[in-house]
Amino acid sequence: MSSFPSMRPRRLRGVPMLREMVQETRLSARDFVYPLFVTHGRNVQQEIAPMPGIFQLSLDRLLLEIATVVDLGIPAVLLFGIPRSKDAEGSEAYDANGIIQEAVRVIKQAAPELLVITDICLCDYTDHGHCGVIDDGAVDNDRSLDLLARTALCQAEAGSDMVAPSAMMDGQVAAIRSALDGASFTDTPIMSYSAKYASAFYGPFRAAAGSTPGFGDRKGYQIDPPNGNEALREIEMDIAEGADIVMVKPALAYLDVITRAKQAFTTPVAAYNVSGEYAMVKAASQNEWLDGKRSTIEILTAIKRAGADLIISYHSKDIAEWLS
Ligand code: PBG
Repeated sequence: MSSFPSMRPRRLRGVPMLREMVQETRLSARDFVYPLFVTHGRNVQQEIAPMPGIFQLSLDRLLLEIATVVDLGIPAVLLFGIPRSKDAEGSEAYDANGIIQEAVRVIKQAAPELLVITDICLCDYTDHGHCGVIDDGAVDNDRSLDLLARTALCQAEAGSDMVAPSAMMDGQVAAIRSALDGASFTDTPIMSYSAKYASAFYGPFRAAAGSTPGFGDRKGYQIDPPNGNEALREIEMDIAEGADIVMVKPALAYLDVITRAKQAFTTPVAAYNVSGEYAMVKAASQNEWLDGKRSTIEILTAIKRAGADLIISYHSKDIAEWLS
């Protein structure tokens, strides 16, 4: 390898055209999935305080947002529902007339080409805010599997293009795959939140979805942040159970895990740029402590450079606008 002075890395950095030609990672609107929060009622557009520009939307307002998403060239949305009421078993999650099922139907009718991905979890729907059902003060893994599988099936019946289990129950991908296959939804893919950490960065989301656990925390089922090998083991198990896309979540504090997942497996890797990551950038840029546009592009480029094939981000609309 040649070295200075015969080799001068600065030669390729001198002019914008050349810098651009040797750019290794390029973002496209096509890389992004835009999360949306859907709520009952009419004409509701309630901004989520720590997430400027992100709203809880009723179905009528949702359709306006969908038109914008399609115009911007964003290929997919990920839906979260705020139920009419919450109960111990999270029953609106698997109700054919639940908010998510209604949302899927109206979106598929208005924008048939847009990919509609639905989150599968009980935490938005349970009165205790945990991701599964509670027995003797703890989340009962195996009893929760039946309800998660029912939710997946109910979403597929409503027309969901891809289901995304995020409850971190052991065996959830296998349970969902078998429920879907048993009802001839053999072609509905599963994007599993395989490596989901017990992270502080979900704070704003829980405010948005009203899903803060009423007691305890999620450390009994989500991955402990110091662990990397454990994430790879989770991903490996999910692939064996039938996951079509695996996810690392959050993204920014876990770029090493994204890279390891990309190197170890051939399954596409998604990364979730979560609510707290969005809130940090927005808060700092509103105070003019950071250049919001430049820092957002830098973060999302880093997530792609680390190995993410698709990026779920609340910045999707901004980035699509900037890139157009
Ligand atoms: C549901 C779920 C959560 C997120 C996505 N799906 C919250 C949680 O586990 O507490 C977080 C998304 C975000 O912070 O943007 N289990």
